[in-house]
Amino acid sequence: MKDRYAVVGNPIAHSQSPIIHAAFAKQLKQDIEYEAILAPLDGFEDTVLSLIAEGYKGVNVTVPFKLEAFNIANHLTSNVIDAEAANTLKFSNDGIIAHNTDGIGLVRDIEENLNVLIKGKRVLLIGAGGAAQGVAHPIAEKKPTLFVIANRNLEKATAIQKKLEGTEEYPVTSFSGVPFKGLEGKEFDIVINATSAGLSETTLPIPATIFVDGCLAYDMMYGRDTPFMQQARIAGAVVADGLGMLVEQAAESFYLWRGVRPNTQPVIKLLRSL
Ligand code: ATR
Repeated sequence: MKDRYAVVGNPIAHSQSPIIHAAFAKQLKQDIEYEAILAPLDGFEDTVLSLIAEGYKGVNVTVPFKLEAFNIANHLTSNVIDAEAANTLKFSNDGIIAHNTDGIGLVRDIEENLNVLIKGKRVLLIGAGGAAQGVAHPIAEKKPTLFVIANRNLEKATAIQKKLEGTEEYPVTSFSGVPFKGLEGKEFDIVINATSAGLSETTLPIPATIFVDGCLAYDMMYGRDTPFMQQARIAGAVVADGLGMLVEQAAESFYLWRGVRPNTQPVIKLLRSL
C-alpha cells in the first residue's frame, strides 16, 4: 500500500498542496498518495486521530487549525515552539511530531529563488498575526541589521519583538515594533507583508519612502496582485508574491516526511502556468 499524506483545513477546496506534492512525488519517484481533507471546524483533532488510525504517515495543516496542530502534538520542534503554530505533522510510533516549515519556506524563497540575502539588510515585517509569528524567528536568525515589525495593533507587534529579544541567539542589533505612523522617515531593503489586508483589497497606510531603490517587496499572499504589491511597484520596489514560499514550505514538509528534497523550480513554474 502507498504511504498516505494529506492537507487538512477548512476551507480546503482551493488548496494547491495536492498538486505540489504530486509533482514532488513524480519528480523523486516516491510512491505516495496526497489528498485534501476538509475537517469540521470543531473536529480537527478527531480528524487527525482517524487519519492516524487509518495508517496515514503525516499531514500538512492549514487555516484555521495551525494552533490546534501545535497543541495536539507530542513532540515539538524548535521552529514550532517559536511560531506557536504547526503546519506539518509527522505520525511516528512515538506519537505526533510537529514542525513549522513556513519560515524556512519564506527565507528560502527570498534568498535562493529571489537571490536576496537577508544578512546585513534592513527588514520590515508588516503584520503580527499567525502568519507573521510563523516567520519572524527564521528571519531574525538570518541576521538582518535592522528588523522592524509594524502592525495596526501595536501590542501584537511588541509581543513578537519581546519573544525574539528573549531568545539567547537573537542576533538583531536594532529592533522595534512600531505602529504604521512610526514608519515615516524609515527605509528598508526588504519589506514583507504578512497581513491579511490583501484579502479585502485594503491599502496599507505605509509611506512610499520605506522602499529604498531596488528594495524587495514580498507579499506572503499569492494568486492576486494585492494593493501592497501595487503600492510597492509604484514606489520602485522589486515585487514578489508568496507562491515561491508556498512551494518551498511544501518542499521542506516533503523532506521531513520522505528524507529527500525536491527541486522546487519546476514546480513553481508549473503553478505559475496554471
Ligand atoms: P494570519 O494567520 O493570516 O496572520 P491573523 O492572525 O488574523 O491571520 O492576522 C492578520 C494580520 O493582518 C494581523 O496582523 C492584522 O492586524 P491586527 O493585528 O492589527 O488586527 C492584519 N490586518 C488585517 N487586515 C488589516 C488591515 N485592513 N489593515 C492593517 N492590518 C490588517
